[in-house]
Amino acid sequence: MHPSQWLNYYGSLTEEMQQASSAPIRVEVLRQGTYPIFDDERATLDLPTQRWAWIREVQLLGNNRPWLLARTVIPMTTLKGRANRLKLLGSKPLGPVLFNRLGAERVSIAFEQVHEIAWQPNSSIDALWCRQSIFKIDQEPLLLKEIFLPENPVYQKNENK
Ligand code: PHB
Repeated sequence: MHPSQWLNYYGSLTEEMQQASSAPIRVEVLRQGTYPIFDDERATLDLPTQRWAWIREVQLLGNNRPWLLARTVIPMTTLKGRANRLKLLGSKPLGPVLFNRLGAERVSIAFEQVHEIAWQPNSSIDALWCRQSIFKIDQEPLLLKEIFLPENPVYQKNENK
């Protein structure tokens, strides 16, 4: 699969990124634990009364370079089920556990472009792709937000087009 197709891919992106990376894909956990959720996340998850969730924020490195930032929001109600094993992920990537062990289904993908690249102000890319996915695990929701960083192959031109 060409990286230009990654954005819209409903399967495990980590496996696709691994094929494009000569070094093993690495997950750096930025934080993981019980934290407040944002208003828009509460609205998206349709959880008007919940203020806290299990939050996982990671940076994904391909070719030993930062390729992606990901924030996972797992409501407490979702954590009560089989999804509680997601608390133990550590630096293992989310995808394989989500897809293979928990049988999660991605029920939607939404896109937006992010214009503030505070972490890399001189990047040649003026907008980053951000996608927001909702998964269902045993009918319970999980929200995943992924920001594709400037060095991600998704921004490469498709030479074969
Ligand atoms: C994660 O391990 O949290 C993770 C990995 C890859 C992604 C998203 C999340 O594309």
